[in-house]
Amino acid sequence: MSASRPRRVLVTGCAGFIGSTVIAQWLRDTDWRLIGVDTLGYAGLRESLAEALDDPRFTLHVADIADAAAMTEVFAREQPDAVVHLAAESHVDRSLSGPAAFIQTNLVGMAALLDAARRHTGTLDHQRRAGFRFLNVSTDEVFGALGPTGRFNEGSPHAPNSPYSATKAGADHLARAWHRSYGLPVLTTYSPNNYGPRQLPEKLIPRIIAAALAGQPLPIYGDGSQIRDWLHVDDHASALRAVLERGQIGETYCVGGGTEVSNLVLVQRLCALLDARRPASAPHAALIRHVADRPGHDWRYALDGSKLERELGWTAQRRLDEGLAATVDWYLANPDWLAAAHRSLATA
Ligand SMILES: NC(=O)c1ccc[n+]([C@@H]2O[C@H](COP(=O)([O-])OP(=O)(O)OC[C@H]3O[C@@H](n4cnc5c(N)ncnc54)[C@H](O)[C@@H]3O)[C@@H](O)[C@H]2O)c1
Repeated sequence: MSASRPRRVLVTGCAGFIGSTVIAQWLRDTDWRLIGVDTLGYAGLRESLAEALDDPRFTLHVADIADAAAMTEVFAREQPDAVVHLAAESHVDRSLSGPAAFIQTNLVGMAALLDAARRHTGTLDHQRRAGFRFLNVSTDEVFGALGPTGRFNEGSPHAPNSPYSATKAGADHLARAWHRSYGLPVLTTYSPNNYGPRQLPEKLIPRIIAAALAGQPLPIYGDGSQIRDWLHVDDHASALRAVLERGQIGETYCVGGGTEVSNLVLVQRLCALLDARRPASAPHAALIRHVADRPGHDWRYALDGSKLERELGWTAQRRLDEGLAATVDWYLANPDWLAAAHRSLATA
């Protein structure tokens, strides 16, 4: 990174749930120039970037990471000092019904992006090359499922169970290979389930909120005993910044949420929050319906975030009860965003 100009960070998947949070938080907290890349497909909403699009420090490129020529042009024109790679097909259910799109973006796209970054670093002078970083954002799902005890850590073997997690695991291996074979300065993070504003209502928390507000059934896979380790998306964005700024090249970091809860208890908490804010004729929990479990559904995920805390001094700040309440309040306060998200989902 040059000391004479603000850092220029290319964020793929910038119009998605985590990408739009990263853009908003980093525009607020840094002087960096942010370059967004997104196809603006069904999961990428221009509405999620509304404020960023008015900020001269943000530039959006509507492009596909699998398009090598387009990526080469973006790198040449924007001269980034770092890449934060968030673009992905991300919904497990869609990966079960249509894995090809996941292979295309999460593997073919990943390889195209890594190679564009590699060729770009070859054009940089020594100082800029030494400062360049490629942050690969991965998921706890690459590790497979846990039993009732233990947590995954950076040494856990990849054992993915869904087409989604298999493509994310493959992407991790590609990132590792571009580091080991070509010296690309890669770092990888593993995150648990995120929650917060601007998440499409095909994912559990916003889907439950939207359905409850519409008085519709609240579907829960199986008995709802599956346990997830929830991380507020603001915490995820700050963890990614810590790794980008202070992480060691070639290292991997688990971002622990420290908030394990079963899907059923989570939905019951959301219902209680909605009962307090939008009372209906019956408690919202009366709308809960157990539906057939997802094939290959992992029972429990949990991450040990102690390496990130020990080495980079990062821990999650938001408690689940407070974060969930703020999330419910955000969806209640943003019906226009929710309507746009439903329209986008209808086109998918
Ligand atoms: N949401 C979570 O709980 C979670 C947890 C761990 C890891 N992750 C990872 O974080 C990343 C972001 O997740 P998210 O929840 O924001 O997903 P998301 O689906 O909300 O956003 C993904 C974005 O990528 C864009 N995109 C998809 N294919 C593209 C392509 N070929 N070229 C350019 N852009 C493309 C989409 O338009 C969308 O804006 C993903 O890599 C995901 O695997 C997410």
